Amino acid sequence: MPKLELHNLNKTYNPQVIPVKDVSVGVDEGEFLTLLGPSGCGKSTLLRLIAGLEQPTRGKVVLSGRDVTKVRPGDRNIAMVFQSYALYPHMTVYENIAAGLKLRKISTEEIRQRVQEVVGKLGLEHLMDRKPGQMSGGQRQRVALGRALVRKPDVFLLDEPLSNLDALLREQVRADLKQLFATQKAPVVYVTHDQTEAMTLSTKVAVLFEGDVQQLDEPQRIYTQPANQFVAGFVGSPQMNLLTLSCQGNHALLGEFKISLPNLAQVPPQIVLGIRPEDVSFAKPEDQQTIQGRIFLVENLGMQNLISVRVKGSDSITIRALLPLNLTWSEEEVTLAIPPQSIHWFDVKTGDRIANRPD
Ligand SMILES: Nc1ncnc2c1ncn2[C@@H]1O[C@H](COP(=O)(O)OP(=O)(O)OP(=O)(O)O)[C@@H](O)[C@H]1O
Ligand SMILES: [Mg+2]
Repeated sequence: MPKLELHNLNKTYNPQVIPVKDVSVGVDEGEFLTLLGPSGCGKSTLLRLIAGLEQPTRGKVVLSGRDVTKVRPGDRNIAMVFQSYALYPHMTVYENIAAGLKLRKISTEEIRQRVQEVVGKLGLEHLMDRKPGQMSGGQRQRVALGRALVRKPDVFLLDEPLSNLDALLREQVRADLKQLFATQKAPVVYVTHDQTEAMTLSTKVAVLFEGDVQQLDEPQRIYTQPANQFVAGFVGSPQMNLLTLSCQGNHALLGEFKISLPNLAQVPPQIVLGIRPEDVSFAKPEDQQTIQGRIFLVENLGMQNLISVRVKGSDSITIRALLPLNLTWSEEEVTLAIPPQSIHWFDVKTGDRIANRPD
């Protein structure tokens, strides 16, 4: 039985706002579940439902086999870390981390031991006597994490804990987080709209859109087998090329070129072709499926060039390809390979994935 279970959780504020729709997920010990989705999709609301800071309209939260839906937040043994740190400004690092334990009437000696252990893990030993106002954002975030870790909770809930940090620090604390939680047994539910955090930290990712779980899967499968067009477009940077194409016989028409369709019971009038920019390359003689077009934009991303190509035979279809910097071209007219095994197909109406690619 998973440590944390969400059963058909719903939250409605009014008929127009349904931030959480029928969410059912289990999170085991040792698992790191990330709730990933755009702003306003219901991530924080879902986390607050787990913490007990909000009551669901329907459904239940089960922790260690016990229905805690009606249990007060303070009695759930959950530790939550917010984006805003929420430290006590007048207390030192030591006091901030120890505060939650003091409320629980734990002996001074045990508190000291537990704080020392956590402070060691977080590299905060030399800052024990500082107050939050005397520390950097990254250090404050570590203290907030320390306060959660010292509690030894049944589950950790983290709501965008890195979003106040600058890009470099975020990368560093992200790596620290990964190492820290690898040694924790309690499951983690982590909220972010940052796909890199979701990909690097998680054992499981739930992609949310308008309160609905679009896909619940291992991070790699979210990337290689997106369940629908939303997930395909949300995860991956640069974004996947997503093109709505007309079908003719067993082909989709991409400009003046024919792209073979997968085996379908019935060929629809239109279909969505998805291909990631890194899967498009300059064509080699042995490539079977190629298209031609004109380069109209080159963006140097540092490690690679992102080129935008207007496909021949169309004045609106653009394909973007991610190419090594050392790959040069002599003319604007280029031939690109569109490998059949790299294509994702989606239904135009529902947005659902049509055929599976090999993993
Ligand atoms: N107390 C409330 N009353 C009414 N609507 C609310 C309330 N709290 C949140 N909402 C709405 O519920 C939806 C989901 O909000 P939520 O805060 O869960 O989004 P989020 O995914 O965490 O977004 P962000 O990434 O911006 O933090 C939003 O449309 C929001 O406006
Ligand atoms: Mg939020």
